[in-house]
Amino acid sequence: MCGIVGYTGPREAYPIVITGLKRLEYRGYDSTGVALLNGGLKVYKKKGRVADLEENILGKNLHCNIAIGHTRWATHGEPSDRNAHPHTSASGKLAMIHNGIIENYAQIKKELLNKGYSFTSDTDTEVLLNFIEDIRKNNDCNLEEAVRVALKRITGAYCILLIDEDDPETIIAARKGSPLVIGVGKGEHFLGSDASPMLEYTKEVVYVNDYELAIVRPNELILKNLGNEKITPFITKLDMELAAIEKGGYDHFMLKEIFEQPSTIHDCLRGRLDAAAGTITMSGVMNNIEHFKNASRIIIVACGTSWHAGLLAEYVIEELCRIPVEVEYASEFRYRNPIVNKGDIIIAISQSGETADTLVAIERAKENGAIIFGIVNVVGSSIARISDGGAYTHAGPEIGVASTKAFTGQLAVIMMMALKIAKEKGTITDDRYNKLLMELDAVPEKVDALLKSADLIKIIAEKYKGAGDALFLGRGYNFPIALEGALKLKEISYIHAEGYPAAEMKHGPIALVDENLPVVFVATKDSYHEKIVSNMQEIKARKGKIIAIITEGDDVIPGLADDVFYVPTADEIIAPLLSTIPLQLLSYYVGIAKGVDVDKPRNLAKSVTVE
Ligand code: AGP
Ligand code: GLU
Repeated sequence: MCGIVGYTGPREAYPIVITGLKRLEYRGYDSTGVALLNGGLKVYKKKGRVADLEENILGKNLHCNIAIGHTRWATHGEPSDRNAHPHTSASGKLAMIHNGIIENYAQIKKELLNKGYSFTSDTDTEVLLNFIEDIRKNNDCNLEEAVRVALKRITGAYCILLIDEDDPETIIAARKGSPLVIGVGKGEHFLGSDASPMLEYTKEVVYVNDYELAIVRPNELILKNLGNEKITPFITKLDMELAAIEKGGYDHFMLKEIFEQPSTIHDCLRGRLDAAAGTITMSGVMNNIEHFKNASRIIIVACGTSWHAGLLAEYVIEELCRIPVEVEYASEFRYRNPIVNKGDIIIAISQSGETADTLVAIERAKENGAIIFGIVNVVGSSIARISDGGAYTHAGPEIGVASTKAFTGQLAVIMMMALKIAKEKGTITDDRYNKLLMELDAVPEKVDALLKSADLIKIIAEKYKGAGDALFLGRGYNFPIALEGALKLKEISYIHAEGYPAAEMKHGPIALVDENLPVVFVATKDSYHEKIVSNMQEIKARKGKIIAIITEGDDVIPGLADDVFYVPTADEIIAPLLSTIPLQLLSYYVGIAKGVDVDKPRNLAKSVTVE
């Protein structure tokens, strides 16, 4: 995790770096630091948010044309001033920022300690930096060469930026496993964990690949592999505007992103779904259609919210395409020696496209000859690039740490994919196919309609904000939505919440039910409706408080539940795209009522680039 920014060029570098860090704070926010060169190396760092650092160094001479900055999500060493990045080398000449984990740092640290080095922080980063400095000294080589030698010795993940007091125009950067984007301007270069720090300056960017090293100067960008061979930088045009990463009048990114869903789902469907013509155009699926049609199984790997999308994908793909699906936590999958054969299809789902667990899981599967299909939001991200095919969710930048619009984008892609494969494979009737296309097409409008009643959720949130625990229950297609509702509440309000299949409740969690326990039922009209009504009776009989997300026109559940929220009618396969939204709002309003910083809840980071 963590966000990194760098600039070298004729402009004032500090404001560019500090603004960039604010945009990358979603990636980590326990400490912040900048290093700049102005007549010598200056490093300012502090535990806390970017704004805390900014305030702390007011009045200092921050004039400079080269700077690097870091917003941290601690892995090695508690969040503190001394563990904050940038770190300075023993000679005081080099400063470095790092995103990732150096797994063999302890061994290298031991070697350096034996050589007489001492360390001021607990980080793996400071070890790598002094290792680089030590190589430069002993091999009498330049910094670029020293970095290359060091990187060949280390294991783990990194994106590093280094500056050297004696070379005041150059930033050396390298990556493996953690993202790095370089913005190419006229006589200037920008570096970032994503493109947001450079949006107002350039639309031309280079996505650096693993095992590549960049030597970046105002007028020069040299890209090399670790074998010192030059690589031609591949320039991509950014298709993103500044407005997309600003709050646009909302109090929080999370609320903005929830309310953006009518348009983000529309953007996801646009150009793909033509309900009137009865067609779905998805080139990523069609390029692999024979594999999908003949697949004996599909494995889905993902984490967190994206894993919940994967679970729904299992239900939808099995129902419509009749292909067995296994859904795996990426972190478990990669370590448990799974059976992956040549030609197996692995679907990786990820908002950021940078989640280390997911990335490594698909790398392993690829080595075994599997075909990787990525469902990713961030264009050009690592997972998107290593996939053999895929579909972007087109939800736009998601800044709130809790995933909302990216999740509905994932669901929309999954539904289109399943319909497309089912149609090609002949496992769906024309009537059902056409009906589901119409239903999917109508989703943005229905989401818009239900968001108009958001204030009702605010009232419900006020009522339950004091709860210590909550249970989220759903059956069938709404079970993954119940899990997602519970995760959202945990993340944003710090209330302990569990999601369960409604029928499974009687096998254990029912013991938790008393008059203080809010139980959220995701109970839109589907083939299990009567069953879930019975589950509700079971809760009511034990005096639990029932909040129910139900379909307009339901006249049974309002008589049972303490609070209800209506969503428009929809086919049961499509309904999760609607039923998930009130749960996002519920966690948002409970979080706000409890005074939580909902965009940056404690201990979390948006992009988890460590394993
Ligand atoms: C979502 O609200 C979470 N913060 C988290 O579970 C997230 O979904 C997970 O880390 C996976 O991220 P990805 O989609 O970027 O791979
Ligand atoms: N491992 C480094 C540290 O703990 C970097 C963590 C990060 O990516 O922010 O400082």
